[in-house]
Formats: sequence, structure tokens, C-alpha cells
Amino acid sequence: MTTIGIHDLSLATAHHVVDLAELAEDAGVDPAKYHVGLGQDRMSVPAADEDIVTMGAEAALPLLERHGTDGIRTLLFATESGVDQSKSAGLFVHELLGLPHTMRVVEFKQACYGATAALQSALGFVARNPEERVLVISSDVARYQLESAGEPTQGAGAVAMLVAADPALLAIEPISGVAARDVDDFWRPNDSTTAVVDGRLSLSAYLGALTTAWDDFTAAGGVGIDEIDRFCFHQPFTKMARKALAGLAQHTGTTLPDELQEATFAYNRELGNTYTASLYAGLASLLDHDDDLAGTRIGLFSYGSGAVGEFFTGIVQPGYRQRRRRESIEARIAGRVRLELPAYRELHGAEHPSDTEWEAPSVTAGPFRFAGIRDRARRYEATQLDAAQPPGRRD
Ligand code: HMG
Repeated sequence: MTTIGIHDLSLATAHHVVDLAELAEDAGVDPAKYHVGLGQDRMSVPAADEDIVTMGAEAALPLLERHGTDGIRTLLFATESGVDQSKSAGLFVHELLGLPHTMRVVEFKQACYGATAALQSALGFVARNPEERVLVISSDVARYQLESAGEPTQGAGAVAMLVAADPALLAIEPISGVAARDVDDFWRPNDSTTAVVDGRLSLSAYLGALTTAWDDFTAAGGVGIDEIDRFCFHQPFTKMARKALAGLAQHTGTTLPDELQEATFAYNRELGNTYTASLYAGLASLLDHDDDLAGTRIGLFSYGSGAVGEFFTGIVQPGYRQRRRRESIEARIAGRVRLELPAYRELHGAEHPSDTEWEAPSVTAGPFRFAGIRDRARRYEATQLDAAQPPGRRD
């Protein structure tokens, strides 16, 4: 039987970084609350000329450089930080990367769950035509009000995945367990740049969706808990995944030590919450940091507030270690430029309404930038590439 799954994946983040130790000190909070209590060290913050489009395009660029564009007929862009109510952010990325005109491009939204919906759809496209490959891009900027409990759980980043038959990284197994319930735990009204959140409720809604999805996974014929070798959970902050594994252990009456997921935390501790990219940043970290994964089964749990959950599994492919990106990701993370708190707060409060012409300052060192707003439309440009010859250009 043909396997289908993640053939390659790539991670990008924003230009700036805020150190949570500084934020804690400024707020008069014990830094251990953030480092240990939440399990977070730093958070990425986009520069004025960055957003989900620039991060998403940056994440996808290495995939196209490595694999070309042959067979790519679909780009699925998952985000809950949409830049337009109508147009898919994927279309800006499509142009920046010079992808073929013979493609379907669409945006997926359901809080942090969107990328998993996109991944499952991609698996379906490839099942119908195994010659096709689908580009799935998840990209988000997590923003809460300044001085709120959610502030240290902000972040920014993007993960791009190439979904194909006979994948080199992770073959996704067909059985999923799903959960949906209308809950007001977290949402972002159309007129707000920051999320509204009921922190306590969000934790219990996450854990409730996990057990519902697990029970559905079992009822659908999924493997037993003792047949899963590693776990990778959505990480709004890494401590949440520890709570999730403990909750699943209790629910299934088993012992599930944290070593089964420890390797998933390295990137998210640095990036902060990347919403829909967070689960897949955890997967990237696991693949980059655990040497004994070949042939093992990973259990993945995707959660999106509001609330939807999905538990599914994948088998790590034998050659996964040849496709590691640890050095380049660590360099990207280490290369972020530290933001002093006053500058971070100024950036946080900046708004650029669509009816005002605005030229963004040149700040980002990334390959793409948000150039500003002209004629009410968002403008993007490549900074390092020959704009006439982006990697996938077809005409
Ligand atoms: P809070 O009230 O500031 O923190 O909000 P707390 O008092 O609950 O403390 C947090 C932890 O730090 C606790 O650990 C404390 O004990 C510990 P726990 O008991 O829970 O294991 N602590 C310390 N540890 C060491 N040394 C110390 C110390 N002091 C305290 N000195 C909260 C925390 C997460 C609620 C807040 O940050 C928040 O509202 N964040 C945003 C919401 C969120 O991330 N929810 C997660 C589940 S929902 C989800 O995942 C979906 C989401 O990604 C969005 C989407 O789907 O689109 C958010």
C-alpha cells in the first residue's frame, strides 16, 4: 500500500526576540514562573515589515529549493492571523515564490487546529492522485494584550510541509480521533488585533478535547496507547504538553513519562506559541533531536480553541536523520535581534489601517518583506532573490 505523509518540512520565525526573563523582571514576576511554570524561555516578535506571509514564504522557500515545484498543484495556507478577510494569504506566498499558475490556493482557519485540517486535506489530494504533492504552510503570530496573563505565551513562526506519497519523514496513518465542541475559551473578534482568552477554561477545554479525541481514536480502531513510542502535542507553552501527557496517562490508566515527548520542546521554548504551526514546530524539534526514531510511531494531538481536537499517528521513516535541519534552525533562532521592552511595546501597539498609505521600514533580514499598504492592498517583496527569478518561477 502506498504511504502518504510529510516528505519534508521547514521552519521559519520572526526577526525579533523578547527574553521572558526581562519581561518577568519588569512585571515583578519570578522568572521561574515563565521558565518552569510555563516552560518558555523567549518569544519571537515580527518586525514592522514581517507577518504571516513573509514567515510562511520563508518557511516554504527551502522546500522548493530542495524539491522543485513539479507535481505541486495545491497550496494550503493555515493561519488564524489572517491579513485579509477574503483573499488567502497563500496567494501572496504563491506570487513571492513564483509558483505555477495551474494551482489551487486556499486558506484554512480554526484557531491552532488549521494546519492539521490542511494536512488531512493534503493527504486526501495525494490519495486521489499519488503523483501530486501538496504544499502546506502554517504561519501565525500569537498576540495577547500587554500585561495580561497571556502576554508571556505570545510568539511567532511558520512551518511549511511538503505532503507526498512515499514520504521521507513521516507516513501518516489513516485513523484519526476527532473532537468538536462550541467553547468560549479563546477567540479573536474581527475588530481586535489581540486574542480574548479565558485561560483556565482554555486549559480544561484542551484537556477535554484530548480525551474525547483519544476515545474516538480508539473507537475508530486506532492502536493502543502502548503501541505509541513518542508523543507530540500542540504547545501553546511547553508545560501544556506535559499536562496533556499526564492527562492522557491518567485517562488510559498507563504510565507515560515525559521522556516520551521531551525532544519536542526545543524550538517552541524559543519561539513561543506559533498557534497553528506549534504542533509541527514540535514535530520538527522531535525529528531533529531524537536519534532513535526510525520505524517508531508518533502520536500527535492538534488542538484549536473554540474548540476542535484531533489525535492521529505517524510512522517515522528510516532516512529521517539525513533530512535534519537542526543547525540551520538553531542559527535562525540564535540570529534573532533582541527587542528592548519599550520597543517591543511600541511595535505591539502599532496599527496600520488599510485605508492609510504606509511604507514599512526595512528591518527584516529575511528573504521576504511586507513593503506596506498601497491603494488599500498589502504589498510584499523579495529582499534577496532576483524578483524575476524566484525559485519556482514558471514564466
Ligand atoms: P497565569 O494565571 O499567569 O499563570 O496564566 P498560573 O498562575 O496558572 O501559573 C502558571 C504555572 O506557573 C502554574 O503551573 C504555576 O504553578 C507555575 P501549573 O500549576 O499549572 O503546573 N508557577 C511557578 N512555577 C515555578 N516558579 C514560580 C511559579 N509561579 C507560578 N515562581 C495561562 C497561565 C496559561 C492561563 C496564561 O498564560 C494564558 O492565559 N495563556 C493563553 C492561553 C493559553 O495558552 N491556553 C492554553 C490552552 S488553549 C490552546 O492551546 C489554544 C491556543 O494555542 C489558541 C488557539 O487554539 O488558537 C492558546
